[in-house]
Amino acid sequence: MSQSRLLFVLGALATFALSEEVGYFDTSMCTDSKGMTSCYKDADIEYTSCVNNNCVGGSQACHDSCGGSVTCMNKQCPSLGMDCINACECQRSAHQIDCASASCWNEVYSCEYQNTVGDFFALCTNPNYDTVPFWPAPDDAPDACSCNLGKIEKKEHLIALQMTECSNNMTNLNQITKTDAIADYGQACMCCGMSAIISAIYDTCPDTKPSLLGITEWNDAIFVPSDWAECGPYLEAYDCAGDLGYGRADAGAISNYYQPSSMPSNGTKTLFNKDGVVSTPVSGDIFTWQFGHSMNAVYHTVTVASAKADVTGKGKASGRDGSATTTATETGATAESTQPGAGVSLGVSFWTMVGTVGILAWLTF
Ligand SMILES: *[C@@H]1O[C@H](CO)[C@@H](O)[C@H](O)[C@H]1NC(C)=O
Ligand SMILES: *[C@@H]1O[C@H](CO)[C@@H](O)[C@H](O)[C@H]1NC(C)=O
Repeated sequence: MSQSRLLFVLGALATFALSEEVGYFDTSMCTDSKGMTSCYKDADIEYTSCVNNNCVGGSQACHDSCGGSVTCMNKQCPSLGMDCINACECQRSAHQIDCASASCWNEVYSCEYQNTVGDFFALCTNPNYDTVPFWPAPDDAPDACSCNLGKIEKKEHLIALQMTECSNNMTNLNQITKTDAIADYGQACMCCGMSAIISAIYDTCPDTKPSLLGITEWNDAIFVPSDWAECGPYLEAYDCAGDLGYGRADAGAISNYYQPSSMPSNGTKTLFNKDGVVSTPVSGDIFTWQFGHSMNAVYHTVTVASAKADVTGKGKASGRDGSATTTATETGATAESTQPGAGVSLGVSFWTMVGTVGILAWLTF
């Protein structure tokens, strides 16, 4: 083993000895790993006190016996109210976005950051999709996740809104008088929406395994109960992009509509962060982002931890091409070492799905 190779391995080992997992991040990736760890701790403390003060209603014992696990608390003590706990989780999630923006600003386009934002959308009720910092990542961003998760999520959100919009369109409904035809139109809105979701996932990230991009969740929650398999004739008969509105920019701008019989092929890659370095804070040393919508907006001010990127400790030396073996053989050590972004997958926003489920109820009345 050459001298420089040896030094690299030792360097990598030293880095990983110091590394710590917080949320999706390995703090050794971050410009300010200590700050990142302590910020996440603060977010947890704030979360616990939010739950205790607002949701637990004297049932500290339940919270403690569940170790703060929301799933557990919801099962053991349902009277706590999921909404309340979700609101606290949402707040924590916003705090974690602050943490990453301040202490891990060199990773704001990474899979880890995008997943942190994904949690925010999943947990918050009616979140604002237009004001979260660094999201979605621009197309040519350095060190960006191999799949632009934010782009998919934003499209899914817009498509879900259009599914409701389409089903409720009085102009179209007024032209239809027969009950059968109304049901037909409603099913067409649903089919076009599902087809658009497939397009948003597969066309945005054709190389990535769709199972990492939420396709299974969509399938179970929406596609199967809404008879996606029977959508062929509807997709032939209706103009999804034009007449049903899914081609509009504010509906996701989907132009390609897959049918059950002509599904795109599955990508095979896992998620990984691409090459490149974010070497200065993207939004400067201090910036503000808006949490919530204008009526109830709260402004979060983020002060960036240190303007100097410590990129040497990031374990970026080896290529990140999505195949774990390359990394392992190149470094000769710590197979588990790099691959930031691996093991991460896109959670589907519960609230996005709730939007579409509303239409299911409408269709089956
Ligand atoms: C593609 O992936 C999905 C989700 O993992 C799976 O259900 C489907 O069977 C796969 N299709 C093919 C042709 O392998
Ligand atoms: C309803 O459908 C009509 C005709 O397809 C379209 O012109 C109109 O913009 C739609 N309205 C909304 C609110 O989407």
